[in-house]
Amino acid sequence: MPDPAAETIPADEAVLIARLVEQNLALLNERERPVRRGQHAKHHGCVLADFVVEPDLPAELRHGLFAEARTYKALIRFSNGEQRDDRKGDAHGMAIKLFDVAGDKLLEPSDTHDFILLDQPLFFIRDVADYVGLFDALLKAKASVVPKLMFFAPRFAIELGLVYFSFLRSRPTELEILKRTVSSKPQTPLATTFHSTTPYRLGPHAARWSAVPDLGKLPKFTAVNSPDKLRHALAMQLGGAEASFDFMAQLQTDPATMPIEDPTQPWDAAKSPPRKLATLRLPVQRPDTQELMAFCEHLSFNPWRCLAEHRPIGGINRARRQVYAAVSRRRHELNGVPQREPALAEFLALHA
Ligand code: HEM
Repeated sequence: MPDPAAETIPADEAVLIARLVEQNLALLNERERPVRRGQHAKHHGCVLADFVVEPDLPAELRHGLFAEARTYKALIRFSNGEQRDDRKGDAHGMAIKLFDVAGDKLLEPSDTHDFILLDQPLFFIRDVADYVGLFDALLKAKASVVPKLMFFAPRFAIELGLVYFSFLRSRPTELEILKRTVSSKPQTPLATTFHSTTPYRLGPHAARWSAVPDLGKLPKFTAVNSPDKLRHALAMQLGGAEASFDFMAQLQTDPATMPIEDPTQPWDAAKSPPRKLATLRLPVQRPDTQELMAFCEHLSFNPWRCLAEHRPIGGINRARRQVYAAVSRRRHELNGVPQREPALAEFLALHA
């Protein structure tokens, strides 16, 4: 039987990934301290959670982390994609780090295991070649004299306009996804559904992950009109009650209409409904003390910090292995902070 998670690797991919690494390093603002992530720089909290694997999963879902019912301690970093003001439309991230996960990881030896999710089901770039093209357009726009001349208009909007004319105009599918991605304005990260957008292995299957909030449990709150409104929402809601997300897998059931190499294509939920693998329980806590915010600043997430049973697949994921590692290494070097995986005890001590 053919492998449903089989990948198609273009001959020039290694060269393109090397270029993508350079482009992402160029996006770092090396003058600020600390040097922050080139993407998803702002976070709203450094949240403690339990990742509770469902008991009695059917045999076909019981692989890797989900092979047996057990609970992992977890950390969640909720972030904005680009904006410093939470009131503006943007992509939003949910990066999950599990602790005390036994077994070899694909990136490097560690006891941790990462999942990286976005508040959109689709990614706005289909492959590495296109991502390199988009970054070329973006870096040219940033260096262009036009944004400097048009000092009365928001710089970000002008850069986006230039990127549109040089790259996105000929790609309507990507443009639609990008528009949706940068216009999302959640009131709280705790009522948002997050998606991996790209596929991963679940043992012999290919699957896309998602985290779906349990809205029934969430306490009502009044949103604050502030550039940090998502941090306030997180602190207010988790200060009063528990929150939870269902961690789901949507299995690829038809390789023709559910491609591995193109995260701009939807996988039809009617053909393959997402299935629950675990519950993320967020206990009552204060997730945004100064110490916790600093702790999350100096962490690294990488989709390849995972068990082989959950190997990232598809070109965008293949590229992320080197890009995330290189960018994280550079910012840690410049900040004079060791790049290492956190121990559960030090994270728990900050939450005590
Ligand atoms: C080739 C495609 C991609 C590139 C080049 C890229 C690049 C980056 C970089 C450089 C970082 C900061 C890493 C660090 O400094 O530690 C980052 C973080 C992040 N990316 Fe991507 N990314 C890509 C695709 C994606 C996709 C498909 C998703 C969808 C889930 C995603 C979601 C995120 C999130 C949520 C973070 C924040 C992680 C954290 O909390 O530290 N990215 N990305």
